Amino acid sequence: MRILGIESSCDETAVAVVEDGKKLLSNVVRSQIDIHAVYGGVVPEIAARSHIEVINPAIDQALKEGNLTWDDIDAIAVTYAPGLLGSLLIGTLAARTLAILKKKPLYPIHHVEAHVYANFITEKADSIDLTLAKHQPKFPMLALIVSGGHSQLVLFRDHGDYELLGMTQDDAVGEAFDKVAKIIGLPYPGGPSIAALAHKGDPKAYTLPKAKLSGAYDFSFSGLKTAVLRAVQREVGVDTSFPSYELAERLNDAQRANFAASFQHTAVETLVDKTARAFKDHSPASVVIAGGVAANQELRRQLQERLPLHIEYAPIQLCTDNGAMVASLAYYYAQAQAATDPLSLQVTPSLSMRSTAWKV
Ligand code: KG4
Ligand code: ZN
Repeated sequence: MRILGIESSCDETAVAVVEDGKKLLSNVVRSQIDIHAVYGGVVPEIAARSHIEVINPAIDQALKEGNLTWDDIDAIAVTYAPGLLGSLLIGTLAARTLAILKKKPLYPIHHVEAHVYANFITEKADSIDLTLAKHQPKFPMLALIVSGGHSQLVLFRDHGDYELLGMTQDDAVGEAFDKVAKIIGLPYPGGPSIAALAHKGDPKAYTLPKAKLSGAYDFSFSGLKTAVLRAVQREVGVDTSFPSYELAERLNDAQRANFAASFQHTAVETLVDKTARAFKDHSPASVVIAGGVAANQELRRQLQERLPLHIEYAPIQLCTDNGAMVASLAYYYAQAQAATDPLSLQVTPSLSMRSTAWKV
């Protein structure tokens, strides 16, 4: 079964075709990072407008790169939740229209759940230059899902049969990377900028706090971000009334690298502490990481060091937003659920995985 997956929930317009949930036939990702970088973050209205311009060419390109026509496509899948309202609308409207015109079944896909399915893509067409995981993860599977909008631990007993063990109580970890990057004067998106500079810094240079929470698997990153802000203020010798956007220029290169390394170390250690705890309590057969922050090499290194099983990682291109993860999840979803009515599919900008397990 070949599924064309469409993703437009945030700032990537992405379309891919995946066969039987695991073989990647084409993967088109049109990133808007350059457009939003000048504003230091995603501007929702600009994101939606850019999706409109790019979505049809991206769909055509995904078919072309896979040497496919609509006759080769068995179904369409699209992210309908969660995400930015205007952005979600563009992808879902394109998918609904195509489902009607091309007479294909349509499957609505949850973006955060889909991130996990980057780990199920283990085969590819020869034309695609990616190093994929070699084996699909086994159930029960513990998933650490860490992106710009989400930080959560989910235990999957099977496809569609999962339990949200814990989640962030405030900022997502990717959001903390983005905000800290802004404080210390690094470009958007903050995750890759901090990761690149952290190599040059001392992770022990500044002692930063880890939040203590009542939920064993819950996260909180807002306090860590504020702790970095206070430490930067102390380091450059100003008080809290000093404008935060002027702080970065007062840091020298060594201080900036030390802040990047210290923040990354603490944020990653927090993620790994909770994942190790969930591993101990639930004894999963596999552990996967998903979402944009899963691209972080320090996270991969610390996780492998702390957990007593071999972890396979999805390529970085499939960790950040893409259509392949949407198409992969849709294959498993379609085994258990009927297709949706393209005339009535609605978007849901806020929808937690707490209530979305779909296994019948
Ligand atoms: O999953 P994603 O592409 O979009 C969302 O659904 O949010 O994740 C984007 C997030 C951004 O916050 C970005 O800073 C972060 O992932 N990110 C990273 C790295 N690459 C991207 N964070 C840490 N280290 C990285 N190497
Ligand atoms: Zn995402």
